Amino acid sequence: MEARSTVRLEVRNLCKIFADDPRPALALLKAGADKAEVLRRLNVNVGVVDASFDIRAGEIFVIMGLSGSGKSTMIRLLNRLIEPSGGDIRLDGRNLTALSKGELVEVLRRDMSMVFQSFALLPNRNALDNAAFGLEIAGVGKAERRAAALRALDKVGLSAYADRFPRELSGGMQQRVGLARALAKNPTIMLMDEAFSALDPLIRADMQDELLRLQREQARTIVFISHDAEEAMRIADRIAVMEDGRIVQIGTPAEIIRSPADEYVRAFFRGVDASRLLRARDLARCDDRVVLLDEEADPAPALRRLAERGVGYGYIRGHDGRFLGVLSRESGTLVSGLEPARGDDSLHGLLRRVASAPCPLPVVDGDGRFLGALSRAALLETLDRGGPRHG
Ligand SMILES: Nc1ncnc2c1ncn2[C@@H]1O[C@H](COP(=O)(O)OP(=O)(O)O)[C@@H](O)[C@H]1O
Ligand SMILES: [Mg+2]
Repeated sequence: MEARSTVRLEVRNLCKIFADDPRPALALLKAGADKAEVLRRLNVNVGVVDASFDIRAGEIFVIMGLSGSGKSTMIRLLNRLIEPSGGDIRLDGRNLTALSKGELVEVLRRDMSMVFQSFALLPNRNALDNAAFGLEIAGVGKAERRAAALRALDKVGLSAYADRFPRELSGGMQQRVGLARALAKNPTIMLMDEAFSALDPLIRADMQDELLRLQREQARTIVFISHDAEEAMRIADRIAVMEDGRIVQIGTPAEIIRSPADEYVRAFFRGVDASRLLRARDLARCDDRVVLLDEEADPAPALRRLAERGVGYGYIRGHDGRFLGVLSRESGTLVSGLEPARGDDSLHGLLRRVASAPCPLPVVDGDGRFLGALSRAALLETLDRGGPRHG
């Protein structure tokens, strides 16, 4: 793992059973029952089962899953709007589950804000006072909270609308006020439960851009619930997929598209155009079919190595570590006219080049260093994610 990925939230074996006494349900789950069986046998709703994961500083961590899979329960456990039935949650190493209500309020007031799907704006207050509402609840004085609310409205492009009432604002603007309310606290963690789900597709895409822009300005730790695969793919650094209260997979969008854990996960992302989401670096391989050769004055030893390895092409690295070209075993020379792809190039823009290249397309980073080769097989396998359908 890279050094910059400091863990902010550590979740271990988290459970939520909606029952006064969770023990019978926990025992059944432990014995291998699923949520449906617990409901059938005990008439008890299972919210979250044995969830363990880390959320890193500055990342957008998206939780996905079908309706009823436990997403809202999970996010509400994170700030203890719901009390867990088991397991624990650490924030910056501090065990939240062990804190008293008073201590908890202190921690959460400082660090976390929540944004909901329904904007929850107060109709008789203007945008400024709505944006200031969270701070008002937290007991911040009037001048200070209005200043913070105005700054937050400015961040979401609504400073000119501070004195408008919710009924005078469009749905998208109302959700911006909701976002401003969360931002006004200047939280380091934002919990967003389907925050954009009620918006029209175009406005929704705007809000996603807005969130990504805010994130570039100041990276907060964001837990974002969505049931929309496109949205998740667009904004997530990592995605956790939930099914029946359990987390069935956690990974980057590319990892999940490339290797979905099961048919449920695969079905979720089936409609997504992976060629626009994935980058060359996501599929570039350095496996044993990709032979790396060091630059030499005489190509003979390199050609011998290709023959020994039984491959038609070798990828040549110069003395300075930069990629030089592809050596063809057949012609004994470099393949001409073969521009390497950049790691950040989207697959969509590379389809033609991969299809027409005589060998897997070399991929290099910004410094011209070889990252791997992109083969037609890898591309097809990833883009053709058909297969048997669910149900
Ligand atoms: N307060 C509650 N009491 C009983 N069951 C609940 C309660 N809240 C949620 N549930 C149940 O927990 C499960 C997960 O719900 P939820 O977290 O809202 O799912 P999602 O947000 O993924 O749609 C569902 O089966 C739901 O019926
Ligand atoms: Mg929900």
